[in-house]
Amino acid sequence: MAKHRIAVLPGDGVGNEVMEAARMVLDKLQLDAEYVYGDIGWEFWCKEGDPLPQRTLDMLRNTDCCLFGAITSKPKEEADKELDSSLKGLGRVYFSPIVRLRQEFDLRTNLRPCRAYKGNPLNYKDDIDLVVFRENTEGLYAGIEFHPVPGELMDTLKRLHPKTKKFDGTDVGDIALSCRFFTRQACRNIVRDAFEYAKKFEYPTVTVVEKPNVIRETSGLMVREARKIAQEYPGIDLWETNIDAMCMWLIKNPHDYGVLVSSNMFGDILSDLCAQLVGGLGFACSGNIGDDYAVFEPTHGSAPKYTGQYKVNPIAMLLSVKLMLDWLEEAESAERLEKAIAAVIGAGRVRTYDMGGAHTTLQMAGAVGDLLE
Ligand code: IPM
Ligand code: MG
Repeated sequence: MAKHRIAVLPGDGVGNEVMEAARMVLDKLQLDAEYVYGDIGWEFWCKEGDPLPQRTLDMLRNTDCCLFGAITSKPKEEADKELDSSLKGLGRVYFSPIVRLRQEFDLRTNLRPCRAYKGNPLNYKDDIDLVVFRENTEGLYAGIEFHPVPGELMDTLKRLHPKTKKFDGTDVGDIALSCRFFTRQACRNIVRDAFEYAKKFEYPTVTVVEKPNVIRETSGLMVREARKIAQEYPGIDLWETNIDAMCMWLIKNPHDYGVLVSSNMFGDILSDLCAQLVGGLGFACSGNIGDDYAVFEPTHGSAPKYTGQYKVNPIAMLLSVKLMLDWLEEAESAERLEKAIAAVIGAGRVRTYDMGGAHTTLQMAGAVGDLLE
């Protein structure tokens, strides 16, 4: 029996192509693993009314972790239109399968390292090294939303909160409400993960990125918990920055920062910004990590316009494989893989289109693989 059982969900579009690249390097690393492929994505929404079928969830529960490619998501109207006619009108609602995976498996930590590898022509500046910890199951992504707002809920809010006066006279059908739930436990968990990482890899600071001056209760809870946890890490400074200012500071002085921690929505925004500082989505890897399970994915999406062209940069996927190897405690393979990726970027002979070259997805993966022999 293989040592690791890894679920492989290529998904849609270029997800399939970057997954092929991932398998190339995993085979070169000779990881002692069995790979189990599963169904996920747009095709299954259209055909079955569920982009994440139950059989896939069952399969995942029998694996150690999952590698995920990419998924196509479309707005509500288009999703409804493309649904098989036999499934229309049954009240099916498209909900992002990756967000669902995060919630179903309680993958509470989204880890997104953004490192400027030397020689990457897309680096905004050299030597940037940022690591985003994004809370992954709550906040605005909890999916607790209303439109229209039920009268009963509106009445309760009106009774409990004077600010709702502003909405007197507006029909509930004309109000949409998305709830931003934070629990103390989730705030503590994500901040602790950030501090543990800073401690392990010797980052001098952890910056909590919220907006407590305006969003007093949720952002406030996160920052207050961060202050308490910081006391347990005397060698590491806690910095507090508002999300808007942080976007500005990261462009101005990216070298001032190391580990960043934020809630789900702000972390989503922050991690795209950080990714762009180190080469864009072609370099943006991530791990969705829980206590017992983890899903690793590049954050670039399915890029429908490039599907079938083997054009996109597989490095985001390969770096996600590296994160998976870390999680599987295959430290030696993880290090070899990261070194090979860094060497290929540094040498500059193989460049995908985003880097100004014309090499394909598999040529890039092949170049990394050649260094793993
Ligand atoms: C990400 C993506 C997802 C998110 C989308 C595809 C639902 O933007 O992983 O950052 O918003 O979390
Ligand atoms: Mg995102």
